[in-house]
Amino acid sequence: MAAKKTVSTFAQAKKSGEKLTMLTAYDYSFARMVDRSGVDAILVGDSLGNVILGQPDTISVTMDQMIHHTRAVAAGTANALVVGDMPFLSYQVSVPDAVLNAGRLMKEGRAQAVKLEGGAAVSAQIRAIVDASVPVMGHIGLTPQSINAMGGFKVQGKGEDAERLMRDALAVQEAGAFAVVIECVPAETADALTKALSIPTIGIGAGPDCDGQILVYHDLLGLFDGFQPKFVKKYADAGEIIRNAFGKFVSEVKSGTFPGPEHCFTAPQNLDKLY
Ligand code: KIV
Repeated sequence: MAAKKTVSTFAQAKKSGEKLTMLTAYDYSFARMVDRSGVDAILVGDSLGNVILGQPDTISVTMDQMIHHTRAVAAGTANALVVGDMPFLSYQVSVPDAVLNAGRLMKEGRAQAVKLEGGAAVSAQIRAIVDASVPVMGHIGLTPQSINAMGGFKVQGKGEDAERLMRDALAVQEAGAFAVVIECVPAETADALTKALSIPTIGIGAGPDCDGQILVYHDLLGLFDGFQPKFVKKYADAGEIIRNAFGKFVSEVKSGTFPGPEHCFTAPQNLDKLY
């Protein structure tokens, strides 16, 4: 059986140079499949708002929704570190709120770490959560909870803005985070951040030099046929397979091909035994 991944796995990988891998999951069945792939951590992202709840952004996601989905993912995960995302305004308002909500993700959601967005502005929250024995993953660069303030989904850390990102990255590390996600940042900037930090960087749209990579599994599997960001690689067109299977079911029921004799119980059989 594979070894349980922990925050020590992340620290070790930074030292050895072995790349870290993370994928999202939002429910028990997908958590089981993602876990079997051997990923180091599963993020129950607040991208839940987009890919599961059909919202245009992550702003409306609540603590109760995050706890509900994190608990399902934790139940399906044996080896990967389960990271629960802290939703908008669950940590920005005050340090006590941040600690209580991080604690809820652990106690009620069974997360083994939490992730929150922001740099220097949330370093007091990160410090207090870490002091309460909850491991924190930071998230800088494009932080989707701030899209209204940022004026949309835009690449961050270009030109002189790279210095702001460096200050944020160092603040997150100084506050005690065990790793930091870097989203939608030029590869050169992400490389400089990765070299400057002693904690691992996990990139999404941040080039190949981060210490690890994360993707939302809906993007990786091609479950959406709409807009696909440049940084996404579609490893399978599962959406096409699923749509075909659903369509086949509908046409076979309509034509009377399904259920066939092999799917039917016959009179002499013991009808108490369904499976
Ligand atoms: O919510 C999420 O899925 C994320 C990843 C994109 C890093 O924050």
